[in-house]
Amino acid sequence: MSFLEIKNLKKKIGPVEVLKGIDITLEKGGFLVLVGPSGCGKSTLLNSIAGLLPPTSGDIVIDGEVVTDLHPSKRDIAMVFQSYALYPNMTVEENIAFALEMRGVDKAKREAAVAQVAKTLQIEHLLKRRPSQLSGGQRQRVAMGRALVRQPRVFLFDEPLSNLDAKLRVEVRAEIKALHQNTHATIVYVTHDQIEAMTLATKIVVLKEGSVQQIGTPAEIYNRPANLFVADFMGSPAMNMLKGITTHGGISLFGNVGVTVPMPSSVTSRCRKERPSFWGFGRRRLPMAG
Ligand SMILES: Nc1ncnc2c1ncn2[C@@H]1O[C@H](COP(=O)(O)OP(=O)(O)OP(=O)(O)O)[C@@H](O)[C@H]1O
Ligand SMILES: [Mg+2]
Repeated sequence: MSFLEIKNLKKKIGPVEVLKGIDITLEKGGFLVLVGPSGCGKSTLLNSIAGLLPPTSGDIVIDGEVVTDLHPSKRDIAMVFQSYALYPNMTVEENIAFALEMRGVDKAKREAAVAQVAKTLQIEHLLKRRPSQLSGGQRQRVAMGRALVRQPRVFLFDEPLSNLDAKLRVEVRAEIKALHQNTHATIVYVTHDQIEAMTLATKIVVLKEGSVQQIGTPAEIYNRPANLFVADFMGSPAMNMLKGITTHGGISLFGNVGVTVPMPSSVTSRCRKERPSFWGFGRRRLPMAG
Protein backbone atom coordinates (compact mmCIF):
# COMPACT_ATOMS: atom_id res chain seq x y z
CA MET A 1 0.00 0.00 0.00
CA SER A 2 1.18 3.52 -0.73
CA PHE A 3 2.31 5.55 2.23
CA LEU A 4 2.02 8.94 0.51
CA GLU A 5 -0.66 9.54 -2.11
CA ILE A 6 -1.16 12.70 -4.10
CA LYS A 7 -4.48 12.55 -5.89
CA ASN A 8 -5.38 14.81 -8.80
CA LEU A 9 -3.81 17.78 -7.03
CA LYS A 10 -4.45 21.16 -8.62
CA LYS A 11 -3.23 24.58 -7.60
CA LYS A 12 -4.17 27.85 -9.19
CA ILE A 13 -2.28 30.98 -8.21
CA GLY A 14 -4.13 33.98 -9.65
CA PRO A 15 -4.94 33.07 -13.23
CA VAL A 16 -2.06 30.57 -13.48
CA GLU A 17 -2.64 26.85 -13.11
CA VAL A 18 0.62 25.96 -11.40
CA LEU A 19 -0.29 22.31 -10.70
CA LYS A 20 -2.57 20.69 -13.26
CA GLY A 21 -3.77 17.50 -11.63
CA ILE A 22 -0.82 15.68 -10.10
CA ASP A 23 -1.09 11.98 -9.27
CA ILE A 24 1.83 10.43 -7.41
CA THR A 25 2.17 7.53 -4.99
CA LEU A 26 5.14 6.67 -2.81
CA GLU A 27 5.67 3.56 -0.73
CA LYS A 28 6.84 3.69 2.90
CA GLY A 29 10.59 4.19 3.01
CA GLY A 30 10.67 5.42 -0.61
CA PHE A 31 12.89 8.24 -1.81
CA LEU A 32 11.02 10.30 -4.38
CA VAL A 33 12.94 12.93 -6.31
CA LEU A 34 11.05 15.70 -8.12
CA VAL A 35 12.82 17.21 -11.10
CA GLY A 36 11.81 19.67 -13.79
CA PRO A 37 12.70 23.06 -15.20
CA SER A 38 12.58 26.18 -13.06
CA GLY A 39 8.99 27.28 -12.49
CA CYS A 40 7.40 23.89 -13.26
CA GLY A 41 5.80 23.67 -9.79
CA LYS A 42 8.21 21.58 -7.69
CA SER A 43 8.24 23.89 -4.66
CA THR A 44 4.50 24.48 -5.00
CA LEU A 45 3.92 20.72 -4.81
CA LEU A 46 6.26 20.35 -1.84
CA ASN A 47 4.62 23.26 -0.02
CA SER A 48 1.20 21.74 -0.69
CA ILE A 49 2.30 18.43 0.86
CA ALA A 50 3.66 20.33 3.86
CA GLY A 51 0.40 22.25 4.22
CA LEU A 52 2.00 25.66 3.65
CA LEU A 53 -0.11 26.21 0.51
CA PRO A 54 -3.71 25.04 0.28
CA PRO A 55 -4.39 23.21 -3.00
CA THR A 56 -7.28 24.35 -5.20
CA SER A 57 -8.55 20.76 -5.44
CA GLY A 58 -7.38 17.20 -5.00
CA ASP A 59 -6.17 15.28 -1.99
CA ILE A 60 -3.03 14.39 -0.07
CA VAL A 61 -3.11 11.16 1.91
CA ILE A 62 -0.43 10.04 4.37
CA ASP A 63 -0.58 6.53 5.77
CA GLY A 64 -4.26 6.26 4.91
CA GLU A 65 -5.17 9.61 6.49
CA VAL A 66 -6.43 12.48 4.32
CA VAL A 67 -4.36 15.48 5.43
CA THR A 68 -5.40 17.95 2.71
CA ASP A 69 -7.09 20.33 5.14
CA LEU A 70 -4.91 19.60 8.15
CA HIS A 71 -2.73 22.34 9.66
CA PRO A 72 1.01 21.88 8.84
CA SER A 73 1.83 21.19 12.49
CA LYS A 74 -0.67 18.32 12.56
CA ARG A 75 0.71 16.50 9.50
CA ASP A 76 3.79 15.05 11.13
CA ILE A 77 6.00 16.21 8.28
CA ALA A 78 9.42 17.85 8.49
CA MET A 79 10.65 20.17 5.77
CA VAL A 80 14.21 21.28 5.05
CA PHE A 81 14.30 24.48 3.03
CA GLN A 82 17.04 25.64 0.72
CA SER A 83 17.53 28.65 3.00
CA TYR A 84 17.83 26.42 6.14
CA ALA A 85 15.51 28.74 8.12
CA LEU A 86 17.41 28.39 11.42
CA TYR A 87 16.60 30.60 14.43
CA PRO A 88 19.56 33.02 14.55
CA ASN A 89 19.30 33.76 18.27
CA MET A 90 19.36 30.11 19.35
CA THR A 91 22.33 27.77 19.61
CA VAL A 92 22.56 24.71 17.40
CA GLU A 93 21.39 22.58 20.31
CA GLU A 94 18.38 24.82 20.92
CA ASN A 95 17.55 24.93 17.22
CA ILE A 96 17.48 21.14 17.02
CA ALA A 97 15.55 20.70 20.28
CA PHE A 98 12.99 23.43 19.57
CA ALA A 99 10.34 21.28 17.88
CA LEU A 100 10.54 18.74 20.71
CA GLU A 101 10.21 21.48 23.31
CA MET A 102 7.10 22.77 21.53
CA ARG A 103 5.63 19.30 21.85
CA GLY A 104 6.31 19.18 25.55
CA VAL A 105 8.99 16.48 25.40
CA ASP A 106 10.86 16.49 28.73
CA LYS A 107 14.42 17.78 29.03
CA ALA A 108 16.21 14.46 29.47
CA LYS A 109 14.53 12.98 26.39
CA ARG A 110 15.25 16.14 24.38
CA GLU A 111 18.92 16.01 25.27
CA ALA A 112 19.16 12.33 24.38
CA ALA A 113 17.44 12.93 21.02
CA VAL A 114 19.67 15.91 20.19
CA ALA A 115 22.80 13.92 21.12
CA GLN A 116 21.75 11.05 18.87
CA VAL A 117 21.07 13.32 15.87
CA ALA A 118 24.25 15.34 16.45
CA LYS A 119 26.24 12.12 16.38
CA THR A 120 24.62 10.97 13.13
CA LEU A 121 25.32 14.31 11.46
CA GLN A 122 28.75 14.76 13.07
CA ILE A 123 27.95 18.15 14.55
CA GLU A 124 28.51 17.32 18.23
CA HIS A 125 31.29 19.90 18.47
CA LEU A 126 29.00 22.64 17.15
CA LEU A 127 26.10 22.32 19.58
CA LYS A 128 26.89 25.46 21.60
CA ARG A 129 27.40 27.73 18.58
CA ARG A 130 24.88 30.03 16.94
CA PRO A 131 24.03 29.77 13.20
CA SER A 132 26.11 32.88 12.39
CA GLN A 133 29.19 31.00 13.64
CA LEU A 134 28.71 28.12 11.19
CA SER A 135 29.67 27.48 7.58
CA GLY A 136 26.97 26.87 4.94
CA GLY A 137 27.46 23.12 5.09
CA GLN A 138 27.30 23.09 8.88
CA ARG A 139 24.08 25.11 8.82
CA GLN A 140 22.68 22.69 6.33
CA ARG A 141 23.37 19.80 8.72
CA VAL A 142 21.71 21.65 11.57
CA ALA A 143 18.64 22.18 9.37
CA MET A 144 18.63 18.44 8.68
CA GLY A 145 19.10 17.76 12.40
CA ARG A 146 16.00 19.79 13.18
CA ALA A 147 14.03 17.65 10.76
CA LEU A 148 15.56 14.34 11.86
CA VAL A 149 15.09 14.79 15.58
CA ARG A 150 11.33 14.69 15.17
CA GLN A 151 11.20 11.36 13.34
CA PRO A 152 8.30 12.56 11.19
CA ARG A 153 6.18 10.43 8.87
CA VAL A 154 7.55 12.19 5.78
CA PHE A 155 10.61 14.35 5.10
CA LEU A 156 10.42 17.09 2.48
CA PHE A 157 13.64 18.58 1.08
CA ASP A 158 13.61 21.56 -1.28
CA GLU A 159 17.02 21.76 -2.96
CA PRO A 160 18.85 21.29 0.34
CA LEU A 161 22.33 21.10 -1.19
CA SER A 162 22.18 23.97 -3.64
CA ASN A 163 24.08 26.38 -1.37
CA LEU A 164 27.00 24.02 -0.80
CA ASP A 165 30.28 23.90 -2.67
CA ALA A 166 30.87 20.93 -4.96
CA LYS A 167 32.97 18.93 -2.49
CA LEU A 168 30.61 19.37 0.43
CA ARG A 169 27.66 18.63 -1.78
CA VAL A 170 29.10 15.21 -2.57
CA GLU A 171 29.73 14.54 1.12
CA VAL A 172 26.31 15.62 2.33
CA ARG A 173 24.66 13.75 -0.53
CA ALA A 174 26.36 10.57 0.67
CA GLU A 175 25.17 11.36 4.21
CA ILE A 176 21.58 11.78 3.05
CA LYS A 177 21.78 8.49 1.20
CA ALA A 178 23.20 6.70 4.25
CA LEU A 179 20.57 8.32 6.41
CA HIS A 180 17.83 7.03 4.16
CA GLN A 181 19.30 3.56 4.13
CA ASN A 182 19.72 3.48 7.91
CA THR A 183 16.42 5.03 8.94
CA HIS A 184 14.15 3.94 6.05
CA ALA A 185 12.61 7.39 6.15
CA THR A 186 10.02 8.33 3.52
CA ILE A 187 11.42 11.28 1.59
CA VAL A 188 10.28 13.72 -1.11
CA TYR A 189 13.24 15.65 -2.45
CA VAL A 190 13.49 18.45 -5.00
CA THR A 191 16.67 19.02 -6.93
CA HIS A 192 18.05 20.51 -10.12
CA ASP A 193 21.04 18.23 -9.89
CA GLN A 194 20.77 15.17 -12.12
CA ILE A 195 23.42 13.23 -10.24
CA GLU A 196 21.54 13.80 -7.01
CA ALA A 197 18.35 12.58 -8.68
CA MET A 198 19.93 9.47 -10.17
CA THR A 199 21.88 8.44 -7.07
CA LEU A 200 19.35 9.19 -4.31
CA ALA A 201 15.98 8.31 -5.82
CA THR A 202 14.06 5.09 -5.63
CA LYS A 203 11.53 6.91 -7.81
CA ILE A 204 11.86 9.99 -10.02
CA VAL A 205 8.98 12.24 -11.05
CA VAL A 206 9.62 14.54 -14.01
CA LEU A 207 7.41 17.64 -14.03
CA LYS A 208 6.82 20.15 -16.79
CA GLU A 209 4.52 23.16 -16.49
CA GLY A 210 2.60 21.63 -13.62
CA SER A 211 2.06 18.21 -15.22
CA VAL A 212 3.75 14.89 -14.58
CA GLN A 213 5.68 13.73 -17.64
CA GLN A 214 6.97 10.43 -16.31
CA ILE A 215 7.27 8.49 -13.06
CA GLY A 216 9.81 5.71 -12.82
CA THR A 217 13.00 4.38 -11.33
CA PRO A 218 16.16 6.29 -12.27
CA ALA A 219 17.05 3.53 -14.76
CA GLU A 220 13.60 3.66 -16.39
CA ILE A 221 13.67 7.43 -16.74
CA TYR A 222 17.20 7.36 -18.14
CA ASN A 223 16.91 4.41 -20.49
CA ARG A 224 13.24 4.63 -21.48
CA PRO A 225 12.12 8.25 -21.43
CA ALA A 226 8.37 8.45 -21.99
CA ASN A 227 8.52 11.41 -24.33
CA LEU A 228 10.82 13.87 -26.02
CA PHE A 229 10.75 16.28 -23.12
CA VAL A 230 12.04 13.67 -20.64
CA ALA A 231 14.60 12.39 -23.14
CA ASP A 232 15.94 15.90 -23.62
CA PHE A 233 15.73 16.95 -19.98
CA MET A 234 17.32 13.97 -18.26
CA GLY A 235 20.87 12.79 -18.73
CA SER A 236 24.12 14.61 -19.15
CA PRO A 237 25.18 14.95 -21.89
CA ALA A 238 21.66 15.14 -23.28
CA MET A 239 20.38 12.51 -25.65
CA ASN A 240 20.96 13.15 -29.34
CA MET A 241 17.72 13.60 -31.25
CA LEU A 242 17.31 12.62 -34.86
CA LYS A 243 14.12 12.92 -36.87
CA GLY A 244 13.25 10.27 -39.40
CA ILE A 245 10.66 7.91 -40.73
CA THR A 246 10.39 4.20 -40.09
CA THR A 247 11.17 2.07 -43.10
CA HIS A 248 11.72 -1.57 -43.64
CA GLY A 249 14.70 -2.60 -41.55
CA GLY A 250 15.46 0.74 -39.98
CA ILE A 251 14.87 4.45 -39.84
CA SER A 252 15.40 6.78 -42.75
CA LEU A 253 16.78 10.07 -41.49
CA PHE A 254 15.32 13.43 -42.48
CA GLY A 255 17.71 15.81 -44.11
CA ASN A 256 19.99 12.93 -45.09
CA VAL A 257 18.27 11.45 -48.10
CA GLY A 258 19.20 7.85 -48.48
CA VAL A 259 20.69 7.45 -45.02
CA THR A 260 18.99 4.61 -43.18
CA VAL A 261 20.02 3.57 -39.70
CA PRO A 262 19.38 -0.15 -39.33
CA MET A 263 17.17 -1.14 -36.42
CA PRO A 264 15.88 -4.52 -35.31
CA SER A 265 12.19 -5.11 -35.99
CA SER A 266 11.60 -5.35 -32.23
CA VAL A 267 12.26 -1.60 -32.19
CA THR A 268 10.72 -0.47 -35.49
CA SER A 269 7.51 -2.38 -34.81
CA ARG A 270 6.86 -0.03 -31.88
CA CYS A 271 6.92 3.04 -34.17
CA ARG A 272 4.23 4.73 -36.14
CA LYS A 273 4.59 3.97 -39.81
CA GLU A 274 4.69 6.69 -42.45
CA ARG A 275 4.81 9.44 -39.88
CA PRO A 276 7.99 11.08 -38.65
CA SER A 277 9.39 9.87 -35.34
CA PHE A 278 12.05 11.35 -33.17
CA TRP A 279 14.84 9.02 -32.26
CA GLY A 280 17.15 9.34 -29.36
CA PHE A 281 20.70 8.10 -29.52
CA GLY A 282 22.96 8.26 -26.53
CA ARG A 283 26.04 6.69 -25.14
CA ARG A 284 24.53 3.50 -23.90
CA ARG A 285 20.92 4.22 -24.66
CA LEU A 286 18.49 2.22 -26.67
CA PRO A 287 16.71 4.14 -29.42
CA MET A 288 13.52 5.78 -28.26
CA ALA A 289 10.36 5.65 -30.30
CA GLY A 290 8.56 8.98 -30.40
N1 LIG B 1 2.83 33.43 -4.84
C1 LIG B 1 2.85 33.29 -6.16
N2 LIG B 1 2.20 34.13 -6.97
C2 LIG B 1 2.19 33.99 -8.32
N3 LIG B 1 2.82 33.00 -8.96
C3 LIG B 1 3.49 32.13 -8.21
C4 LIG B 1 3.55 32.22 -6.79
N4 LIG B 1 4.30 31.18 -6.33
C5 LIG B 1 4.68 30.50 -7.41
N5 LIG B 1 4.21 31.05 -8.53
C6 LIG B 1 4.42 30.57 -9.92
O1 LIG B 1 4.16 29.19 -9.93
C7 LIG B 1 5.06 28.53 -10.81
C8 LIG B 1 5.73 27.40 -10.07
O2 LIG B 1 6.57 27.92 -9.06
P1 LIG B 1 7.48 26.98 -8.15
O3 LIG B 1 8.15 27.84 -7.14
O4 LIG B 1 6.65 25.85 -7.64
O5 LIG B 1 8.51 26.42 -9.22
P2 LIG B 1 9.79 25.47 -9.03
O6 LIG B 1 9.57 24.30 -9.93
O7 LIG B 1 10.01 25.20 -7.58
O8 LIG B 1 10.95 26.37 -9.63
P3 LIG B 1 12.49 26.50 -9.17
O9 LIG B 1 13.16 25.31 -9.75
O10 LIG B 1 12.92 27.78 -9.84
O11 LIG B 1 12.56 26.57 -7.67
C9 LIG B 1 6.00 29.59 -11.32
O12 LIG B 1 5.60 29.95 -12.61
C10 LIG B 1 5.86 30.71 -10.34
O13 LIG B 1 6.07 31.94 -10.98
MG1 LIG C 1 11.51 25.76 -6.20
